[in-house]
Amino acid sequence: MTELIWEGKYKDGKKTSPVRIALPFQTIETINESVQQRQQSLDFFSNGKPTEWRNRLIWGDKKYVLPSLLPEFAGKVNLIYIDPPFNVGADFSFTATIPDDPEIDNVETTEFIKQPNIIEQKAYRDTWGKGLDSYMQWFYETVLILKELLKEDGSIYVHLDWHVSHYAKSILDEIFSYENFRNEIIWKRKGGSANPLNRLGSVTDSIFWYTKSEKINFTQQYSLDSDDVRKYIEERFNNVDENGRKFMKSPIVSPNPRPNLTYDYKGYTPPKNGWSISKDIMEKWDKEGKLYFPPKERGDRIYRKIYIDEYIGQPIQNLWTDIFVINPVANERLNYDTQKPEALLERILKSSSKEEDLILDCFCGSGTTAAVSEKLNRRWITCDLGRFAIHTTRKRLLGIPNIKPFIVQNLGKYERQQWIKAEFENQETRITQEKTYLKFILDIYHAQSLNGYIWLHGAKAARMIHVGSVEAPVSVGDVKNIIQEFWKIVGKSKDAKTNGIDVLGWDFAFDINETAKQFAATNNVDIRFKKIPREVLEKKAVEQGEIQFFELASLDIKTKIEKKKLTLTLNNFIIPPDDIPEEVRSAITHWSQCIDYWAVDWDYKDDTFHNEWQSYRTKKSPQIELSISNVYEQVGKYTVLVKVIDILGNDTTKALTIQIK
Ligand SMILES: C[S@@+](CC[C@H](N)C(=O)[O-])C[C@H]1O[C@@H](n2cnc3c(N)ncnc32)[C@H](O)[C@@H]1O
Repeated sequence: MTELIWEGKYKDGKKTSPVRIALPFQTIETINESVQQRQQSLDFFSNGKPTEWRNRLIWGDKKYVLPSLLPEFAGKVNLIYIDPPFNVGADFSFTATIPDDPEIDNVETTEFIKQPNIIEQKAYRDTWGKGLDSYMQWFYETVLILKELLKEDGSIYVHLDWHVSHYAKSILDEIFSYENFRNEIIWKRKGGSANPLNRLGSVTDSIFWYTKSEKINFTQQYSLDSDDVRKYIEERFNNVDENGRKFMKSPIVSPNPRPNLTYDYKGYTPPKNGWSISKDIMEKWDKEGKLYFPPKERGDRIYRKIYIDEYIGQPIQNLWTDIFVINPVANERLNYDTQKPEALLERILKSSSKEEDLILDCFCGSGTTAAVSEKLNRRWITCDLGRFAIHTTRKRLLGIPNIKPFIVQNLGKYERQQWIKAEFENQETRITQEKTYLKFILDIYHAQSLNGYIWLHGAKAARMIHVGSVEAPVSVGDVKNIIQEFWKIVGKSKDAKTNGIDVLGWDFAFDINETAKQFAATNNVDIRFKKIPREVLEKKAVEQGEIQFFELASLDIKTKIEKKKLTLTLNNFIIPPDDIPEEVRSAITHWSQCIDYWAVDWDYKDDTFHNEWQSYRTKKSPQIELSISNVYEQVGKYTVLVKVIDILGNDTTKALTIQIK
């Protein structure tokens, strides 16, 4: 067979293969699970039993997520739909909205385009860094693993446009085989575009449909909406019954000679080849009023009546002209540039899957596949690399009435461990590996290394630096050790040359920003917590020296307890100014404008954040509640976890300990 070759496809005569390391997923959030379901999950888990199925929203690069799904899902996915990234501008930038100041009337809503961050730019370089060659390799590796995940009778739909669809078809043929190609669906995105100069406007996308094998799971879909169907209806449904219902006459004539279906019925002679139905069915339809008897003298035959109000339309073909692109005021529109219409996914899902089937989309974007799967009662797994995509999807799903519980996952420290292993693999011992890691982070932070200490690893200007490990979040205990070591070095005197420590961490314990900061302040130490950005994992971003470490946002919450009722009120939220683009900063006049979403776990059990209540802004209701109460059934000590997501998609979590008496 003809094969498409690109630079990088072969190395030493062998095809280069994708990353195949399976990393364990971390559940960072459980959404919509009742207290009983939560307890059940905990019990199942402690008894070593598999827990009940949960749909999964995964934050991570498909490069790591897909191989990590293999141990559990190889050969188990019924349907895959992918709409891979193509254009960096549209794929990664998003429009964020600054909500109105609640204390000022009639202010105009401000919107701004959040440009892609370094990770997202990197993903783009991964795919397009070397132009078409690297895109081909990236696409090839994606599809190779997707095929392994697919069930024997499963289908994959790959959504592309003219830029690469013809190359991608060759790759799909190579991986799935030419024989398992089912259709190229041409979707006419209605609305069109202004005609460009010197060529025709492009108004279609291609969706390639393949099955894994010759086995197939397919349900024909019908449409009432296309121009062809409208014409057909106009021409054919031109009879009206005694109740005023419009109907079409459909012949019941056998195409081949059927002597056993050749019978007289109510004085009507049979057609030459016989009827297409048995006498029993003829009688049944007659009783149901479904037959049309023309005047006998015309010598015409009996017909079946197909009423217009019962007509399901024409079987759809591979040209889809009846699904409109999402218009600017559509209810489902989420301000995600590459968002696809739900009707498109609905047709695909209904054609090639059944209820309870498992659906996968590894480029989730605004979450269209997950939302439609949920509505059609399919199970789903979806992932995206962009934090804003994950947040948009989470909110979208929460807006679906009776949404089933789902979990949000990532690969957390395992992805970082993997990175350390790969990045510093030539180090002789674990100690030198650790040292190289520390130096690497300090270099990026433009700090000097400091030798001979356990907790303090570097210095920058007049501040000491601690670098958190990849294994665990920085805890309050760590901070106490850091401060003790700090005293040993600089003493406790008020006029010590330095009184500042920057703690750089991948993750932080929930209460760190308040508890540890307070502890430090009472001891005259100015401590700042800064997040090591995920960009550090990306070689190219590091080489370009664009990495920024942002301080943790700080959240102030008031609590009020009356008997068994706890009321939480958000009181202040400060995002470190570095994190906000200049033009946005000036539009923010009230702290609550930075908050897009907040959620509460009333009884955090040191497992994952269980989202038991949330308030968030949507296009329809842009207001956010700032206060919420919960009545506890039992007295006792509880840990309440509050998670806030800001308008840029970053999250901040705070733990509160409360006593219900
Ligand atoms: C064209 S959009 C998908 C839009 C989606 N079909 C919808 O209806 O909203 C492509 C998505 O792929 C994500 N993406 C790009 N590279 C990725 C990667 N390596 N792993 C996971 N997601 C990625 C982007 O963040 C973007 O959200």
